[in-house]
Amino acid sequence: MFSQLQPVATDPILGLMAAYKEDPNPLKVDLGVGVYKDEQGHTAVLDCVKKAEQLRLTQETTKTYIGMAGDLSFNAHIEKLAFGSHKVLLEGRTTTAHTPGGTGALRVAAEFIKKANPNATIWVSKPTWANHISMFQAAGLTVKEYTYYDYSSKGLNEEAMFTELAQVQAGDVVLVHACCHNPSGMDLNFAQWQRFAALAKDKGFTPMVDMAYQGFGLGLDEDTAGLRHLANEVPELILCTSCSKNFGLYRERIGAVSVVVADAKVLETARSVLLSVVRSIYSMPPAHGAIVVSHILDSQELTALWHQELATMRNRINQYRQLIIDKLAAEGVQQDFSFITRQHGMFSFLGITPAQIEQLRRDYSIYMVGSSRISIAGLNHSNIDYFAKAVAAVLKP
Ligand code: LMR
Repeated sequence: MFSQLQPVATDPILGLMAAYKEDPNPLKVDLGVGVYKDEQGHTAVLDCVKKAEQLRLTQETTKTYIGMAGDLSFNAHIEKLAFGSHKVLLEGRTTTAHTPGGTGALRVAAEFIKKANPNATIWVSKPTWANHISMFQAAGLTVKEYTYYDYSSKGLNEEAMFTELAQVQAGDVVLVHACCHNPSGMDLNFAQWQRFAALAKDKGFTPMVDMAYQGFGLGLDEDTAGLRHLANEVPELILCTSCSKNFGLYRERIGAVSVVVADAKVLETARSVLLSVVRSIYSMPPAHGAIVVSHILDSQELTALWHQELATMRNRINQYRQLIIDKLAAEGVQQDFSFITRQHGMFSFLGITPAQIEQLRRDYSIYMVGSSRISIAGLNHSNIDYFAKAVAAVLKP
């Protein structure tokens, strides 16, 4: 039967990663996958992680099964990072399971939604992370898109977004990015979060918040402002988080899914459904990443170190947002790229054509996703001039 299988195209982001790896050009620049790189172009293990891993080595006493919800101390820390001292925690209305990465969280969330409403449609921003759509479809959910990014103004198409979301039915789910929108970098401001929360409340749809980049936007707490407001206003929501980026734990696959219910009385039922979903997909999550994060957040010293390392990553990206604008201007580029500093997180759309993207790859070995999404952390002092010259060359009329 396997001879009947049809090949499936490689994921566009992961395919780009492989193509970059194989490119022999010493000047090649990787602006593809959303992975932080330092000034040396290296994705180093954070010092706080190294120290926590040492602790794990010396303190671990068992390798027995961890349980379907994973590491309970990690779950409590993640809830606190996301919600602070919010009423959804004080009122006992939140349950969390740690998952294999943010992607695992999204998949568990999708299966959970199906149990709650098998006919639910999930609405995703246009554009969104490409894997959102394929993953939700694979889970059997109907996926629809709402307008989000305006390619001409390089900002949010607010009126179209809210007009379209006003059509969403009660019982459907709307996915929003907490911060650092992937792929556009265009986040909702607080007034837009207020508008979104009011609409969700009025229409009765359930928000699902994907927070894969907490700490990469404005700051750890600042990046949760929209989420926390939403949690004030709506009775229930789902939150998916990831520690891939902010703890640099990409390959350890560590994330979490949190469900906020309207009434603490139904929390146990929601938890039982959530855990049954986990059991039927992968039984229990891997422990390592969660224990590392717990060690960091259990220790004041390691937490302070983490805050510092996270700020270094965030500040470096923001510095390069401004540098891109300055360097392109210095190369004589006339187009306005000022939108790059109005966006947040790892990504921005450069707004160049598919032919120009192809030319950058073919002639300069500069790799970016086909939408012109660039991962800004791929730039550093030794490639920024090369990048700016190459972009200026392909933009020449
Ligand atoms: C990205 O968008 O580049 C990252 O989230 C990595 C991935 O899995 O696609």
